[in-house]
Amino acid sequence: MSENHNAHEKVEKNVGLMAVLIAVAVSFGGLAEIVPLMFQAEAIEPLEGVEPYPALELAGRDVYVREGCYNCHSQMVRTLRFESERYGHYSLAGESVYDRPFQWGSKRTGPDLARVGGRYSDDWHRVHLNNPRDVVPESNMPAFPWLAKAKVDGEVVAKRMRALQALGDPYTDEQIEQAPAELEGKTELDAVVAYLQGLGRHAPKGGQQ
Ligand code: HEC
Repeated sequence: MSENHNAHEKVEKNVGLMAVLIAVAVSFGGLAEIVPLMFQAEAIEPLEGVEPYPALELAGRDVYVREGCYNCHSQMVRTLRFESERYGHYSLAGESVYDRPFQWGSKRTGPDLARVGGRYSDDWHRVHLNNPRDVVPESNMPAFPWLAKAKVDGEVVAKRMRALQALGDPYTDEQIEQAPAELEGKTELDAVVAYLQGLGRHAPKGGQQ
C-alpha cells in the first residue's frame, strides 16, 4: 500500500477529521460560487426602469405574503426552454431587487406568477380571487373572499415605505406622504390585483432566450 493510500484511510476511519475536511471542501465550493455574485452588477443592481413598488402594489404584495400565496406560486421563470415558452423571458435578479422578501422558488402547486401581469383583466382577477372555481372550474386554489371587504390602511403602508427607504429603497418623501391619500378607500383586493397586474412589467422582451 502506498503512503498516500494510508493517509486516506486514516481520514476515512476518523469521523471527526473527515467531517472537518468535508466542511472545508464544501466551503471552498460555496465561496467560489457565491463571492463572484456579490460583485456582479447584474445580480445586485436594479434592471433599467425597475423602481420600488408604488403604494397600492406594495400593499398588495404584503397581502400576498400574509395570505401565503407563495406556498403555491413561485415568481421565478427558470432558464429552461419549456419555461420561457410558457411564461416568457427567464427571471433576472435585477427585476427583484426591491422584493423583500423575494418570491423566487420552485414550489408550484399553481403556475409561476412572475409574468402574470396583463395576462388577464382586473375583473378576471377579482372573480378568481373571490372564488377560483367561477373562472377555472377544475381549480384547487383556495378562495380569498375577505380581501374584497378588508380596507388597506394607508398610514401603515406609509410606515412600511419609510422603513424600506431606511433600508435604501429610493422612495421619495413625497411618495410616502401621499400614500395615505392615495390608498383612501382601497380594499385589499384592489391592492392584490394591482400587484399581480404589475408582475413582469420589467421583464426583458422576447420569450425564448
Ligand atoms: C393551495 C395552493 C394555492 C394558493 C395558496 C394560492 N393559489 Fe393561486 N393558483 C393555484 C392553482 C392550482 C392555480 C391554477 C388554477 C387556477 O387558475 O385557479 C392558481 C392560479 C392562480 C392565478 C392564475 C395564474 C395563471 O397564469 O393562470 C393567479 C393570478 C393566482 N393563482 C394568484 C394567487 C394569489 C394572489 C394567491 C394568494 C392570495 C394564491 N394564488 C394562492 C393554487 C394556489
